[in-house]
Amino acid sequence: MTAFRSFRIHLNDDRSISAGFEDLTVDDLTDGEVLVKITYSSINYKDALAATGKGRILRKYPLNGGIDLAGHVVQSSDPRFAEGDLILSCGGGLSETIDGGYSEYARLPAHCVVPIPSGMSDFEAMAFGTAGFTAAIAVIRMEANGQIPERGPIIVTGATGGVGSFAVNMFSNLGYEVVAFSGKKDQADYLKALGASDIIDRHTLEMGKRPLEKAIWGGAVDSVGGDTLGWLTRTVKPWGNIGSIGLAGGFGLNTTVMPFILRGVSLLGINSIEMPDEIREEAWHRLGTDLKPSDLDLIVKQVVDFTELPSAFDQFMDASILGRVVVKISA
Ligand SMILES: NC(=O)c1ccc[n+]([C@@H]2O[C@H](COP(=O)([O-])OP(=O)(O)OC[C@H]3O[C@@H](n4cnc5c(N)ncnc54)[C@H](OP(=O)(O)O)[C@@H]3O)[C@@H](O)[C@H]2O)c1
Repeated sequence: MTAFRSFRIHLNDDRSISAGFEDLTVDDLTDGEVLVKITYSSINYKDALAATGKGRILRKYPLNGGIDLAGHVVQSSDPRFAEGDLILSCGGGLSETIDGGYSEYARLPAHCVVPIPSGMSDFEAMAFGTAGFTAAIAVIRMEANGQIPERGPIIVTGATGGVGSFAVNMFSNLGYEVVAFSGKKDQADYLKALGASDIIDRHTLEMGKRPLEKAIWGGAVDSVGGDTLGWLTRTVKPWGNIGSIGLAGGFGLNTTVMPFILRGVSLLGINSIEMPDEIREEAWHRLGTDLKPSDLDLIVKQVVDFTELPSAFDQFMDASILGRVVVKISA
């Protein structure tokens, strides 16, 4: 096979990060049983951290970026996959220890490969990507811990981002009242179209300091962390769940045991990489059925060509990002 193009991330001698396009051959890729021709990838907050060097995501260097990919199998030594199968891989160590989706080809360990559910295209799989998959895991974990619409509204933080947009839409479609917590008041129309009934401006909210504030939310999905997550613990109603997903606003958590021991609030950790196989399968099944948005195009705000990838990361770092960005790798 001739050389192909990859977007590769390096750690330099002075510990700085540099990234750019390079020509590779299959032998340059991290090893695996399944060779994949990649059609689409996507951009998540974590991809932007990795590519800009604002966060240390890779655990070995160099590697191709991109924690998500979709494409078709070219060759497989694992009998579960055959040439031509449409597959996806999200998380699973891509762009951490395994060459990721910003490349025309990847070689994947078979345990990272998921058949794309029937009725879902490779483009749709990457419209969801890790963002949609993670929001689905939050739904599954919160439901398993007793979340029901009757407990009250779900608040979604980082609401205009990838995870947030899907969480707003999914909980709304499941019959919950959803309140969007966002820094983008000018995107009220977008958030309402996704299903939010109200929007809270994160720039002006007074969070209070008491161990327990007035209980308002039936549950919460949090992409922000830090002070925001602390405030959520103090304002979720008895027996409510908080799905803790992200740290866009900080990795700290300042709270007390009061919400847990006096209100029975549950803080559920949401991890899109490590999970039992049955949860991964359930999440992808539900993304193709009851959690699939009626209008995925509403959330996919940009489809960028592979060549445009380097200029697409800054919008994640300055929080101006809206919805999802799909990357078209090859036809
Ligand atoms: N646990 C997991 O397995 C997992 C999986 C996927 C993602 N994540 C994490 O979840 C978070 C969201 O991921 P994503 O891909 O959806 O990111 P994204 O598309 O960049 O969205 C993040 C959103 O968070 C809000 N935000 C950004 N900076 C903020 C700040 N300083 N303070 C408060 N809010 C801020 C913004 O929404 P508004 O402008 O609407 O407020 C932004 O649109 C990231 O931290 C990511 O690393 C974790």
